[in-house]
Amino acid sequence: MTIDLAALPHDFLWGTATAAYQIEGAVDEDGRAPSIWDTFSHTPGKIANDDNGDVACDHYHRWREDIGLMRRLGANAYRLSVAWPRVRPGGDGPDNAKGLDFYDELVDGLLEAGITPSVTLYHWDLPQALQDRGGWPERATAEHFAAYASVVADRLGDRVHHWTTLNEPSCSAWIGHLEGKMAPGWTDLTAAVRASYHLLLGHGLAAQAIRAAAPGAQVGIVNNLSTVFTVTDRPEDAAAARRHDGHVNRWWLDPVHGRGFPADMVETYGVELPERPGDLETIATPLDWLGLNYYFPAFIEDDPDGPAPYARSVYREGVPRTGMDWEIDANGIETLLLRLTNEYGARKLYVTENGSAYPDVVRPDGTIDDPERQEYLAGHLAACASAARKGAPLAGYFAWSLLDNFEWAYGYDKRFGLVHVDYETQVRTIKGTGRRYADIIRAHRGQASKAA
Ligand code: FCB
Repeated sequence: MTIDLAALPHDFLWGTATAAYQIEGAVDEDGRAPSIWDTFSHTPGKIANDDNGDVACDHYHRWREDIGLMRRLGANAYRLSVAWPRVRPGGDGPDNAKGLDFYDELVDGLLEAGITPSVTLYHWDLPQALQDRGGWPERATAEHFAAYASVVADRLGDRVHHWTTLNEPSCSAWIGHLEGKMAPGWTDLTAAVRASYHLLLGHGLAAQAIRAAAPGAQVGIVNNLSTVFTVTDRPEDAAAARRHDGHVNRWWLDPVHGRGFPADMVETYGVELPERPGDLETIATPLDWLGLNYYFPAFIEDDPDGPAPYARSVYREGVPRTGMDWEIDANGIETLLLRLTNEYGARKLYVTENGSAYPDVVRPDGTIDDPERQEYLAGHLAACASAARKGAPLAGYFAWSLLDNFEWAYGYDKRFGLVHVDYETQVRTIKGTGRRYADIIRAHRGQASKAA
């Protein structure tokens, strides 16, 4: 597998990514209050093995060691998320000094190690106090989000220049409020559509708040997008694929690009949007970059009896899959990077997440060789470089994930890390994929310095 590294800019960001609730633990330390994920994970039957994030990777106490791991990988960037319930436990204030101090020290530690921090403000951990007041279906939550964003940008903005408002709002809205498989666990289309609207409004308000607090900040949003196919040539399946594309891709991209909410999807959902004058302009606040999280393609068929968008995934037999049972198609990442470039005019792109889970085997000598994950990484990086060669303004790649961690509803069963975590002892071990990533980064640096 050759990766056209020369297609990537010399100042390319080679990163890893994590999210607060998935790694930090220390859920009731130093003034942190519960989030919707604490509530959800402690509700019996919601998470595989009834796992929860109480301890996770204990990163709250081990972050220095984890920065050391990033250095060993040779990474020059790190995508982390700030836990809203650590910084503003009640959701709308007062601020928690110890929570802010934690991220302040972490950022300093990263910078000392030569690692650029990229900060995500919302990776799904809404303070439970705001959920108790209605959560994302309520407009006030968007306003509280912007106020919280302002507090964090005010504290970190002298050193942090890369900011993400939301991670994968489609998961928050659709999986959290329509499918019920993620916090807060609702199955209510009206609530889900209202949540989607207020998430995007919150994004726009937060983008403005970050820039006001930290002039010069580079602000973006991170979406998980999918390529969409049908397995038949039936017109009703093609229509379902179009609805699925609307549901997971266009609903999230069109409004932030000033195109409003896609009319076909407004009709499909049949839910009145809680729109007020000026909202669409706020949602379309110009961005500095777009983030793409990519994992798998979607194969879709019509589902007239199902819930909106009346489209369901087809399970194709005999195709390669990861340990999540997700189909592997590296071309998808290239297709999506080029779609963001050509259809949405992106001026700067980051792959903010991409990776694979497999059941790792720790050998008697303690090493972990994970050839399938290595192949997934190399294949997807080759596709990224190919997109860059064809004109996608790709400025960085963040592997999901630095560490094995709490994989939401799947608990600790699914391991995405470049670094293995033994949850009994908290011992970290760099896997074969971590070593492979380090080799790729080194090779790119070598080329870039030769070219300079
Ligand atoms: C993404 C999430 C991330 C992780 C990966 C596997 O949807 O953003 O937290 O769970 O999937």
